Amino acid sequence: MNAELLIMFTLDCDRAYLYAHPERTLTAEESARYDEAVGRRATGVPAQYITGHQEFWGLDLIVSPAVLIPRPETEHVVEAVLELVSRAGSKRSQNQDQKPRTGVSAPHEPSAPHGLRIVDVGTGSGAIALALARELPSAEMHATDISPEALEVARANAARHELTSRIEFHRTDLLGGLPPALFDIVVSNPPYVGDSEEESVQLEVRKFEPRNAVFAGPTGLEVIERLIPQVHEALRPGGWLVFEISGTVADRVRSRLSSWDWDDVAIRNDLQGIARVAIARKATRG
Ligand SMILES: C[S@@+](CC[C@H](N)C(=O)[O-])C[C@H]1O[C@@H](n2cnc3c(N)ncnc32)[C@H](O)[C@@H]1O
Repeated sequence: MNAELLIMFTLDCDRAYLYAHPERTLTAEESARYDEAVGRRATGVPAQYITGHQEFWGLDLIVSPAVLIPRPETEHVVEAVLELVSRAGSKRSQNQDQKPRTGVSAPHEPSAPHGLRIVDVGTGSGAIALALARELPSAEMHATDISPEALEVARANAARHELTSRIEFHRTDLLGGLPPALFDIVVSNPPYVGDSEEESVQLEVRKFEPRNAVFAGPTGLEVIERLIPQVHEALRPGGWLVFEISGTVADRVRSRLSSWDWDDVAIRNDLQGIARVAIARKATRG
């Protein structure tokens, strides 16, 4: 698989071309480039940092060592957001069938995709923000990251997919400086690995992916602990928080959300049965 990716990269072609031309031989210059790519891969550099690309939610994204390589399991986060939006949309249309139109949505429902305000915290390559901007054409998307280099990559990806006008990028610590009670949904794949788990993390990840994208601090909960109250402040009452977690932090996340002012707390598993997505709704009371 890696060899295939690297040969496609060397020839600047897609898989279809590769299979359609089994007779194709490499020129001396191509051969040298392929050998160089294989040599880098042999030192452990992830294939995606060599090719500069990774697919996420059907979008071809540029990646560099400044950003985490988007993972397929993060697509569960996107799915969870889309499900909430579609559930709220169908509830709203039911309500509209029953009641005269007022133009005002129930205060605790995220209303229809039109006018939704969503922010992706720690956007990295822009993976989640771009997927949601593509899927929800009327939503107002924001994306934050503390790393200016990551934001540069995210902006380049937005431009590549003609989504620049759809996403406002903010360089900030979590949600710092964003207006309170504005957002319908806050989504995030925050760093959630603890320093004590370092040995169990693949060497390739530890060596090549940005440390502040993966590790949160000694326990793994340090960023989430700061994120939850900031999200509470940023959401309007009834708004949703959807974020990626790991099995290691799932119980602590659940108890953190039950001791805060949240409703409808749920933890969803990924295809491997590992806790992967935490969901909670900001309480409307108080
Ligand atoms: C796990 S990566 C997720 C990247 C991308 N959202 C994805 O799912 O592929 C975490 C991201 O959070 C950013 N980050 C870490 N600490 C942050 C903070 N305090 N405020 C904002 N962003 C932060 C990192 O720079 C990194 O891009």
